[in-house]
Amino acid sequence: MLVHSNNFLIKIIIFFFILFTTSSAFSEEKKVDLIKTNWSFNGIFGTFDRASLQRGYQVYQEVCAGCHSMQQLSYRNLSEEGGPEFSIEEVKAIASQFEIEDGPNSDGEMFMRAARPSDKFAKPYPNIEASTAANGGAYPPDMSVLAKARVGGADYIYSLLMGYEEAPPGFELDDGVYYNKYMAGNKIKMSAPISDGIVEYSDGTQTSASQISKDVTTFLVWASEPHLESQHRMGFKAIIYLIILLTLVYMSKQKVWSRFNSKKESEEETFDKVERTVTKYEGEDPKTFK
Ligand code: HEC
Repeated sequence: MLVHSNNFLIKIIIFFFILFTTSSAFSEEKKVDLIKTNWSFNGIFGTFDRASLQRGYQVYQEVCAGCHSMQQLSYRNLSEEGGPEFSIEEVKAIASQFEIEDGPNSDGEMFMRAARPSDKFAKPYPNIEASTAANGGAYPPDMSVLAKARVGGADYIYSLLMGYEEAPPGFELDDGVYYNKYMAGNKIKMSAPISDGIVEYSDGTQTSASQISKDVTTFLVWASEPHLESQHRMGFKAIIYLIILLTLVYMSKQKVWSRFNSKKESEEETFDKVERTVTKYEGEDPKTFK
């Protein structure tokens, strides 16, 4: 028996040993620690910083939208609860700055018109091939769910934006390829999109590269998780509900079991009790038992 359990223990130890060694071997491949930021949207009470989302939209529009599309978003999403929460008027003004293709009209022809809040974000290129051709053979990925699609999410995007460096000596880089500490293989076909003062904020926030990167990252996280705040609220309510339920269940369990637990009787005592009861009612009609 002892031998058997020892064997079992050894097997478990070997299993965990293999698990840890292989997983660390995998992760060592290209592990550069991402810059950890204390994002306001992390944790179960996490919410987006409204002002940061609005600035982030501005950065996306003025800097990233030249190459990256955001096809899942409509202008009206910018006014929805839990997002940048621009007013309807602001959203109408934002949308009207863009032209999108509509049609066909009664002559069967497509035409351009100003965008409305219900329209999807205008695209920088008509299709993937055109955007790839214009970017030296690399496709600037659509940003609708980019923050979710990349391992590391917000921390990865922020790190990538801040991760441009001089290539170490001897590191070969072709034309149009840049060295980035956090990109897989350290080569990226996007020149550093953000630098100090590349945008001008109207709310007086400083425009350091790191602030701008934080704002646009926040915006990209919201875009890929527009219902994050309501999900957090729901999760919190569910936890409160479970706590109340657990308390009630515990209290009723206490009540039910109190009848049995109140006195610890020995087996003999219980036997005596039963015997006495049986003698008491002996000969009586069971229907009159109380
Ligand atoms: C001049 C065009 C251009 C601009 C402007 C631009 N990008 Fe890019 N971006 C690209 C291209 C091209 C790629 C693909 C790079 C590759 O695969 O090597 C890319 C890739 C990315 C990636 C994905 C990297 C990965 O893990 O595959 C992120 C994140 C990104 N860009 C963020 C941004 C942000 C944020 C902005 C705005 C602040 C921005 N980009 C502005 C062209 C651009």
